[in-house]
Amino acid sequence: MSETPLRILAVCGSLRRASYNRALLRTAIELVPSTLTVTQHEIGDIPLYNGDVEAQGFPPPVVAFREAIRGADGLLFVTPEYNHGIPGVLKNALDWASRPPDLPFRGKPGGLMGASDGPIGTARCQAALRQTMQTLGIRTLVHGEILVTFAPQKFSPDLRLTDEVTRKHLARYLESYAKWVARMRD
Ligand code: FNR
Repeated sequence: MSETPLRILAVCGSLRRASYNRALLRTAIELVPSTLTVTQHEIGDIPLYNGDVEAQGFPPPVVAFREAIRGADGLLFVTPEYNHGIPGVLKNALDWASRPPDLPFRGKPGGLMGASDGPIGTARCQAALRQTMQTLGIRTLVHGEILVTFAPQKFSPDLRLTDEVTRKHLARYLESYAKWVARMRD
């Protein structure tokens, strides 16, 4: 296993400040084993994909996103589910990053987690995102997922993940994820 921490690029599919998914990602950063460092990359300034814009060259936020992916040892997507699917902002960012000439994702290990206010905890979004990740050449951890259901009951008003069962589950997930990223890297 490598001595210096492996670099994980995390992307949140919600742009809002008081997002449960942002809060979940902050908790993951807090609980992650020391073999990994997790850095969040903001995608809110990535313009809508447009082939005419692409023909003029990648806009700077797209270049920055692609470089950040390229420089990472692993990826982590933390996202809500919108209408049973992937939020447009996240899908849009992935679409930009998927464009030739060089696919930055290929072979990178990718983790997935999400929080929703309902009983399904983003399961349908994660199924769709797994399919997209596979298309992009991202490897997914087959067993293990973080689906935080009824998020308003699991976070405090100041957006700390207070549900102990979920915290333990998240810590266990991050341990498996860290081992798996290290294996992929070796
Ligand atoms: C939602 N929400 C939602 N929840 C869910 O479990 N399944 C769904 O399909 C949807 N669809 C959906 C569409 C849109 C446009 C919005 C804005 C919301 C509710 C969602 O789980 C809730 O708003 C979360 O709090 C959003 O995540 P963040 O922003 O708190 O991270």
